[in-house]
Amino acid sequence: MAEDLNIISGNKAEEYRSLVPQIKGLLTGENDLIANMANVSAALKEQFQFLWVGFYVVKDNELVLAPFQGPVACTRIQKGRGVCGSCWQDGKTLIVPDVEKFPGHISCSSLSKSEIVVPVIKDGEVVAVLDVDSEAYNFFDNTDRKFLEEIVGMINF
Ligand code: SME
Repeated sequence: MAEDLNIISGNKAEEYRSLVPQIKGLLTGENDLIANMANVSAALKEQFQFLWVGFYVVKDNELVLAPFQGPVACTRIQKGRGVCGSCWQDGKTLIVPDVEKFPGHISCSSLSKSEIVVPVIKDGEVVAVLDVDSEAYNFFDNTDRKFLEEIVGMINF
């Protein structure tokens, strides 16, 4: 618990704490998945000015680009490829402090320097991933992990 409090601290945590109820409000009463992924992407992008925020969903054994905010991105990613495909394969959040050092990283924008990818798990299967890119190295930490996992858990996939 003390360790948790230690990790989940600072302004970033405060920003997430104020954003979570707003996202809850956006999702309440709406069960259209595309609308909800679109609004969650926009809410995160507006709050943190991330370079890129968005979803890839599993379709026919590929990850296919879904609602996002930011520069255009590659549309299809195979299982095990790049950060997103590795997250899909492992079913675990991946934090990449320097994308150039991640073997097989798929570069959609040369401005992206660090990345976090969170799996969306339904009935024990990864059904989508949330990908967030930053223009700063080493941007993402356990605070992002905790809150982004909570936020994807709020969407009814
Ligand atoms: N960098 C990702 C690809 C998706 S874009 O960053 C939007 C990857 O390596 O899987």
